[in-house]
Amino acid sequence: MKVLIATEKPFAKEAVAGIKEVLDQAGFETVLLEKYTDKQQLLDAVATADAAILRSDIFDKEVLDAGKQLKIVVRAGAGYDNIDLAAATANNICAMNTPGQNANAVAELAFGLAVYAIRNFYNGTSGTELAGKKLGIHAYGNVGRNVARIAKGFNMDVYAFDPFLSAEAIEKEGVKAVGSVEELYSTCQFVSVNIPATAETKNSINYALLSKMPQKAVIINTARKEVINEAEMVKVLAERTDMKYVTDIMPGNHAEMAEKFEGRYFSTPKKMGAQTAEANTNAGIAAAKQIVDFIKNGNDRFRVNK
Ligand code: 3PG
Repeated sequence: MKVLIATEKPFAKEAVAGIKEVLDQAGFETVLLEKYTDKQQLLDAVATADAAILRSDIFDKEVLDAGKQLKIVVRAGAGYDNIDLAAATANNICAMNTPGQNANAVAELAFGLAVYAIRNFYNGTSGTELAGKKLGIHAYGNVGRNVARIAKGFNMDVYAFDPFLSAEAIEKEGVKAVGSVEELYSTCQFVSVNIPATAETKNSINYALLSKMPQKAVIINTARKEVINEAEMVKVLAERTDMKYVTDIMPGNHAEMAEKFEGRYFSTPKKMGAQTAEANTNAGIAAAKQIVDFIKNGNDRFRVNK
């Protein structure tokens, strides 16, 4: 069994070693394709692989069709919007993710971004604090839960909205549940965006929602750029000069935002929320174990395609 690790953005070295150890023990071979610059390199590498571990690497129809021996692909991470699920199913390939494994790393970065924003991007001027402020978590999944846990340590007043969870499930964790996304944005000065990119959520964070936010609003995005309506984000930031946007996913209109909103807008150059040794190790080893368990025992617990 040949398992390809296809990571344009490589894992930490110790994570790769941990993955290899799991695969060695199972008698599987590890093939490493890191920092590839050309899609053809990925197409060539998947051609002889039985399984693949990927991150934000694009596994579209062309890649999945080229993986003639592929039985399983595992996204070492949460969001699987980079895998063409229909093409995986059509090719009889099981697609999985590793939910929760990198959630703490992403949540910690959300606070790194929040503090950076309210300390005026560390420019030496007087800023503000998180303590006592209202934080809205959109939505309350694995990352959202970690954001809530850390927010309590900052003494924030924590709110959440999740269309798939009951108010009771949220409130039993000491977080205030609100009844709608509009209520979340109109109540909270800080909003942490933690929703997946799906057909329903794409472009859903728009002018109507953002313009409802209280004064000195800060939007922290560690999810996906696609969930933001970028043109409307520009419109609201232009009108609301009190508002800031900090993101770990560079928007399509980064140059425009950087130019127009200096001091109120920041993007990391490359998505780095899950880019820690711990998150890489947790997600990478989970992916390797899921592959072994699927190949040897048919366990498809974390399957995300039908
Ligand atoms: C995820 O969906 O797990 C995060 O966005 C992390 O993505 P990455 O593995 O490409 O850093």
